[in-house]
Amino acid sequence: MPETRRFPQPIPYGWYFVGYCDELTPCDVRPLHYFGRDLVLFRNAEGRAGMLDAHCPHLGAHLGHGGKIDGDLIRCAFHGWAYDTDGWCRDVPYASSMPPACRREPVIHSYPLTEANGVIWAWYHPHNIAPLFDVEVYPQFTDPSWATQTRFEWRVAINPQEVAENAVDAAHFQFVHGSPAPPEGHGVYEGHIRRTGTDGIAEVQLADGSTQQIKTAVRSVANGAGQKITMLQGVTRVWLMVLITPIETDDAELRFAFTHPQTEAGSPEAAAFAQACDRIAGETGVIADIPIWNHKIHRERPLLCESEEQIVKFRRWFEQFYVHDANRREAAPE
Ligand code: FES
Ligand SMILES: [Fe+2]
Repeated sequence: MPETRRFPQPIPYGWYFVGYCDELTPCDVRPLHYFGRDLVLFRNAEGRAGMLDAHCPHLGAHLGHGGKIDGDLIRCAFHGWAYDTDGWCRDVPYASSMPPACRREPVIHSYPLTEANGVIWAWYHPHNIAPLFDVEVYPQFTDPSWATQTRFEWRVAINPQEVAENAVDAAHFQFVHGSPAPPEGHGVYEGHIRRTGTDGIAEVQLADGSTQQIKTAVRSVANGAGQKITMLQGVTRVWLMVLITPIETDDAELRFAFTHPQTEAGSPEAAAFAQACDRIAGETGVIADIPIWNHKIHRERPLLCESEEQIVKFRRWFEQFYVHDANRREAAPE
């Protein structure tokens, strides 16, 4: 690996956002490039989503460019071969008999997909092995009695580890976000799950100008490298999904999707939600992190203060999602 790489780590395995469920309608076909791979995401006419490696095993056309849905299949634009969501070739329109491999096994790698929380999640593992854990389901993100999701997205030259490390980097809050470090809370590491929580007191200004002290709480669950859910309790309850999808080892899409119990327009709860969105996703929130992320490097042996031991703990946990011979791929069927 050239020494100039800012991030030496491979792409970690996990469940990652590859689309919002409501944005992929039946018969949609979308070319994607995530995990250093060319991909095609589609929803067949029966409503089932599929994601395959993009290039047709016949003569290599990209299924996401010109490929069309035909019933439950995606049909390649080049010579009309058609594949199902599991990567089986089901039709070669001009062949008197199908190539034997097509009868034996799937001929394109299909990515395990799960639709939950309004998100289409794809399982990525460098060796294409089956999921090692499940997506965490939070029904409030799709519950019609909760607010529709408020969504943000950015393209950032970063990897999932550096974004997640931000939460345990207490000192940067003062310098990057102009806010005091969040109170030291508890962190529990359980296999692929990391749970954190902090409790505090905040002073809120009421409509009549007076102030009131309220209890606040923040609870987060990181489920592998690609799924993080945070609940913030204050004047109102706000739920946030942090969705990061690696494009290459140093390039990613980052999304925030918020929801909250329905509020009346103009109510203190509605104002508190707008404030929380702005504090987290606005100029003094993640937007202030992005220029740092775009230019930083990963320090394998950083100079740390004693108070920064959480960073070391976090890194030890995150390391489990790396497969260091990530270049090895399952042999593709011939
Ligand atoms: S390249 Fe896809 S059908 Fe020939
Ligand atoms: Fe930050």
